[in-house]
Amino acid sequence: MAKKSVSGSNNSASAEPRVHQRGREIQRYATVTHAFHLELEEPVRLEMTERLNQLLADSITLRDLYKKSHWQVAGPTFYQLHLLFDKHFNEQVDIVDAIAERIQLLGGLAIAMAADVAETTKIERPPRGREEVPVQISRLLDAHQIIIRDCRALADRADKLGDQGTNDLVVSDVLRPNELQAWFISEHLVDSPLVQATEEVSKAAD
Ligand SMILES: [Fe+2]
Repeated sequence: MAKKSVSGSNNSASAEPRVHQRGREIQRYATVTHAFHLELEEPVRLEMTERLNQLLADSITLRDLYKKSHWQVAGPTFYQLHLLFDKHFNEQVDIVDAIAERIQLLGGLAIAMAADVAETTKIERPPRGREEVPVQISRLLDAHQIIIRDCRALADRADKLGDQGTNDLVVSDVLRPNELQAWFISEHLVDSPLVQATEEVSKAAD
């Protein structure tokens, strides 16, 4: 006699998609798996992943601040800033991915969703409305400053704990690109005349 398939059984074959599924978490946030092959003790990986998640939340926020600025910029410098903001956005996309994958590699869990990022970031929330270019740039610079400060502290700590991989990632892939982006946008806040010099140089012949 043929066996009847049991309804609801895990091994019953069916062409129907099994939608709306939920289940228990297989790893809780703020824990690390036993990555013995890394030769890094669990407390080190716990501290590194916690600090990297702060850097991740701030980098995701800065990334999105660049897109907001890209969309909402206005004025005579619209075109160049529209392009520059999007270039920096795309570079921050790569930075975010590098940080998140370092967290996963260390056995931790990278935060990802907007609500979790909003609860974690130290960067001030901007209004939904449009702001003037100098304010947009000031907000971006403030965000870079927070990230750069955290990068230096995190790189030092990673070095002390023997996590050279995190040290290298933070310095090479996060700190230096942030320093460069901050320089590019800070030059836009220099009050330099476009057409006429502010003071005429006195002529030696006079
Ligand atoms: Fe665009």
